[in-house]
Amino acid sequence: MSIQQNLNTLRHPVSNQPEKSPFNAGETLTEQTKPLTVLLLGSGGRECALAWKISQSPALKHLYIAPGNGGTDAYGENIPLSPLDFEAIAQFATEKGVDMIVVGNEDPLVAGIYDFFAGREGAPLVVGPSKAGAALEGSKDFAKQFMVRHGIPTARYRSFTSETIAEGEKFLEELKAPYVLKADGLAAGKGVLILDSLDDAKASLREMLGGMFGKSSATVVIEEFLKGIECSVFVLTDGNGGYRILPVAKDYKRIGEGDTGPNTGGMGAVSPVAFADDEFMRKVEERIIIPTVKGLIAEDITYRGFIFLGLIDVEGEPMVIEYNVRMGDPETEVVMLRIASDLLPLLQGAAQGNLSTMPLDTDPRYATTVMVVSGGYPGSYPKGKVITGTDTGDAILFHAGTKRADDGSLLTSGGRVIACSAYGKDLDEALAHSFKAAGEVTYEGKYFRRDIGADLKAIEEARAAK
Ligand code: AMP
Ligand code: GLY
Repeated sequence: MSIQQNLNTLRHPVSNQPEKSPFNAGETLTEQTKPLTVLLLGSGGRECALAWKISQSPALKHLYIAPGNGGTDAYGENIPLSPLDFEAIAQFATEKGVDMIVVGNEDPLVAGIYDFFAGREGAPLVVGPSKAGAALEGSKDFAKQFMVRHGIPTARYRSFTSETIAEGEKFLEELKAPYVLKADGLAAGKGVLILDSLDDAKASLREMLGGMFGKSSATVVIEEFLKGIECSVFVLTDGNGGYRILPVAKDYKRIGEGDTGPNTGGMGAVSPVAFADDEFMRKVEERIIIPTVKGLIAEDITYRGFIFLGLIDVEGEPMVIEYNVRMGDPETEVVMLRIASDLLPLLQGAAQGNLSTMPLDTDPRYATTVMVVSGGYPGSYPKGKVITGTDTGDAILFHAGTKRADDGSLLTSGGRVIACSAYGKDLDEALAHSFKAAGEVTYEGKYFRRDIGADLKAIEEARAAK
C-alpha cells in the first residue's frame, strides 16, 4: 500500500499489518529521521519498561522521565516534575527541546494533557487521547454508552445516581448473583465491587452513591456479571483510522495465589496468551477494535495513543470489561519485550496521525513478569527497605516502587517494587527466569505470587492434548 493510498483512506481504518513495509529494518521515513528528544511521564514498572524499549531506538536523541524511579535512570534522565503540572512540563519541554511526550499513566490524560499542548505553537507531540477520548477510562458510564452506540459487545448495564437509588435496587433484583457495581470515575483501580448477595449489593450501592469513592462514585454503573477468563489487548491508534495491535497479555490482579484476596495493581503478566488465538483475535479486531477506532472518528474524538481493552473470553466470544487509555501495568513489562520493531517511530506515527505504513513486528518468544511487592500490600506497607540482589542475569528488572538514596543504595518506595521480566522459548523457561530473579531480589517483607502463568500452562497443556 503506498503512502498516498493511505492518505486517501485516512478516515477509514486500515488493516493492522501493512501489506508491504516501505522501510528497511532499522530505517524510518526521511521526514522522521531527526533524532527525537522524548519526555516520558510516570514512575511505575510500566514506565520503566517503556523507557527500556524507547532507549533502544536508533531514532532517540535523549530520554527524560518525569519523575521516574530508582530504575528508570538506567535508560534516561530522571526529572523531578509532576506529570500533572502541565505548565512546568511545558516550560521544561521548551527549555530542553522536547519533541514528544509519552504519557504512561491515565491521570494526566484524563486531566487533558493532550488538549493542553494541542493548540500551542511549537509544542511537543503528545502520544495519547484528548480529554474527550480519555473519558473512555475516566467515566465508565461514558465508556458503556460508547460501546452501546457502536455495537461493541459488553455486559448489560444501567447507571444510577443518588436520585435513582430505588431504580438501582430494582435493577439489581432483575440481575442474578454475583452483582457488579462500578464507580463511574477514576478510583485508583479500587472502584469495582463484586458482591454475592443481593442485600450486600443494595447496601454497597447506597454506600457508593453516598460517597464511598468520593465524587467518583456519584454515578454507579451496575452490570451483569460475565464468567470467563480475562486478557488485555493493546492497540496503538493514530486518530486517522490507522492502528496496530500489540502482543496480547494476561495479568494477575489478586494478591493471593489461585486468584484469591484483594485486588492489586497487578502481580504478574504473561504474553502470549494461549486462548487469545487467531480466531479469537479476529473477532476482537472485527467486533471491538475496528468499531472502537471508527466510533472515535465518527464522534470526532481525537485519539492518538494507546487503547487498552480489558477483555473477557465468554465461551470463545470476546466481551469488553473496560477500556483504559494507556498501557497496562504490569502488562507493559511483557508487551515491550515482545515488540521486535523500533517503538519510537510507531509512537511518533501515532502522535502525528500517520501510523498506516509502519510495521509492528512481534518477537516470537514468550515473555513473563513476576512482581515482587512490599509486605502488607495492597493494604498499608512500610517503605524505605534496602533492596539487594538485583544483579540477575537472565531477567530484566523493571523497577516500580524503588528510589535511590543519597548514598546510591536502592530503597523500596511503593507497594509494587520490581517487575522481574524475562524471555523464554516457552512459558516454562520464561517463568523459570522470572521466578529465579524474584527469589534473588531481597528486602525485608518481600512477597510474590508463585503461580503466575499457571492457568495458561494448564490451558496450553489441555490444547496440546486435544
Ligand atoms: P475494571 O476496573 O472494570 O477492570 O474491573 C475490575 C475487575 O473486576 C475486572 O478485571 C474483572 O475481573 C472484574 N469485573 C469487572 N466487570 C465485570 C463483569 N461485568 N463481570 C465479571 N467480572 C467483572
Ligand atoms: N494491569 C491492569 C491495569 O493496568 O489496569
